[in-house]
Amino acid sequence: MNRVEGRVKVTGLATYAAEYPVEGVAYAYPVQSLIAKGRVARVDAAAALDMPGVLAVLSVADPPELAEDADAELALFQRREVAYRGQIIAAVVAGTYDEARAAADAVRVEYEPADHDVSLRADHPGLYRPEVVNPNFPSDTEQGDLEAGLAEAATVVDVTYTTPVLHNNAMEPHAALAVWDAEGTLLVYDSTQGATTDRDMIAKTLGLPSGRVRVVARHVGGGFGSKGTTRPHAVLAALAARVTDRPVKVALTRQQMFDVTGYRTPTIQRLRLGADGEGRLTALEHVAYEQSSTLKEFAEQTAVPARVMYATPALRTAHRLVRLDVATPSWMRAPGECPGMYALESAMDELAYAAGVDPVELRLRNEPETEPESGLPFSSRNLAGCLREGARRFGWERRDPEPGVRRDGEWLIGTGVAASTYPSKRSPCQAVACVRDGGFLVQVAAADIGTGARTALTRIAAETLGVAPDRVHVELGDSDLPAAPVAGGSMGTASWGSAVVRACEELKKDGREGRADTTEEVGQDSELARHAFGAQFAEVRVSAVTGEIRVSRLLGVFAAGRIVDARLARSQFIGGMTMGLGMALMEETLTDEEFGGFLRRDLAQYHIPACADVPDVEAVWLEEEDERLNPMGSKGIGEIGIVGTAAAIGNAVHHATGHRVRELPITPAKIV
Ligand code: MOS
Repeated sequence: MNRVEGRVKVTGLATYAAEYPVEGVAYAYPVQSLIAKGRVARVDAAAALDMPGVLAVLSVADPPELAEDADAELALFQRREVAYRGQIIAAVVAGTYDEARAAADAVRVEYEPADHDVSLRADHPGLYRPEVVNPNFPSDTEQGDLEAGLAEAATVVDVTYTTPVLHNNAMEPHAALAVWDAEGTLLVYDSTQGATTDRDMIAKTLGLPSGRVRVVARHVGGGFGSKGTTRPHAVLAALAARVTDRPVKVALTRQQMFDVTGYRTPTIQRLRLGADGEGRLTALEHVAYEQSSTLKEFAEQTAVPARVMYATPALRTAHRLVRLDVATPSWMRAPGECPGMYALESAMDELAYAAGVDPVELRLRNEPETEPESGLPFSSRNLAGCLREGARRFGWERRDPEPGVRRDGEWLIGTGVAASTYPSKRSPCQAVACVRDGGFLVQVAAADIGTGARTALTRIAAETLGVAPDRVHVELGDSDLPAAPVAGGSMGTASWGSAVVRACEELKKDGREGRADTTEEVGQDSELARHAFGAQFAEVRVSAVTGEIRVSRLLGVFAAGRIVDARLARSQFIGGMTMGLGMALMEETLTDEEFGGFLRRDLAQYHIPACADVPDVEAVWLEEEDERLNPMGSKGIGEIGIVGTAAAIGNAVHHATGHRVRELPITPAKIV
């Protein structure tokens, strides 16, 4: 089955947030703070207001009315205090985009700067232990006697890995178009991962009931988490439209995205692993150091996957956070699992070498019976199957473990492996299915952010109804449709699909219409450890002359329940793996220590993989029956592809060169 929206996308007919034709539209352009900390003393908008086409200047000098409990990142122009360089402190509204942009340059801002601190360090005096880490896990956990486990170990690995600030770079930059009607109801065309949640957040920020706001997002050009929560551009569009009594569009530039749409926190991660003579863990400690802003606490759950992965008599995980003069970090594909598994799976490779055990075999020897920390049975866990199938397909048995000895001219060749995991949960959702024009209409406020959600839900509905997919039309991307959770946490298909199945079952009984709300069903989900697993294999070629690294082969083997649509699943897996390749070798946003904010705020400097960087990437999956998850038996597949990829590549670089790089990204300078 082809993507149902494939034709409108490739012919340019799919409409994105900034593209809706609206009569009389005006444009707002943000003015961003040039200091990282301090106060805005004065905003002089006189020159800007005199410029052609300018309708209004919004700023902290004249705070617009917003809800008192508005989210600190969304409470635009409410406080003169500056929390980070790049924060939106004013905006110009004008008749055209270029007029707004030019006038934004003419807004004079005087600051009272204060000393800032934007540097994450493992010995930072401001580090503290958060109460919980995202979404609601205990910050620290400890079982068994860690020090005793390390003391009795035949082999100990004590290593620190770091990951940099990373930014989501969706193809469609964030944009919103806000239109107020005469009755004071607000319509926002927004680029969002969830129309329902975005509507609720915009309404809450403006102090409106949810019924007075509608969000439409029929097509979204990627999000990866950066569109999972409401972003300031949407609030700015609504405020500017209210002030000028015109529809207002805000389309962020790529550079502005880097400042105000979130990023993955940098991490410093210390791993202490102990193993007996056979490579069985005697102790595992994972401590993660991370940052948040002064505005709010965002505590990434980086050490949480260590609670899921391996059997060990002593297990300690901990998170330490420091609040810096930076923007608040946010979600980026597999938040927590992705950086956490990078460090854990790199350290496991180091342990394999230290213990003299093959890296695949080491992981097999440490397979747990139940989820290590909770003791809960797994709904299904086929990590061992993924490792074995991957090893077979990759030709792992022919591997000589000796590092730095395979050479093809100037190129050193190596292979590496890492495990992968991601939770498989679902959230309550509503859906309606009815008979329409001789076919079937299914409605749910789901988001298709490029994943193919429409297509997956069409298949799920068609299978439940027992009809051909071309008789089913799925309508999504509108908060006026039945309420749905975000496309996030790899829960979209499981959450929306559950509601679609139930609505279609009701339709079959009723004959005309079926309505579903899975709140009760999801609330009764039995207590099980629910995770997808995978094994990532990488082959790299490293130039002994320049340190250039080419990934010549990537193979991911996943166990992710029933795969709803093979083509969509493959795209998700290889997309995640490609993003993991970027994380391993290229992606890094530098923090400007001197002035605050970020350097490298565009795609010329923030490098992501191009097709030529990914000559051979293959994703396969095991048949996995897991009927206890949801009516489809499916696990999420949006995020697991990125988990473990960077570790597999880093491990392959070590195998190729004999050199262990513990700071991402692995750039040529760190090799030579
Ligand atoms: Mo994803 S980071 O859960 O949107």
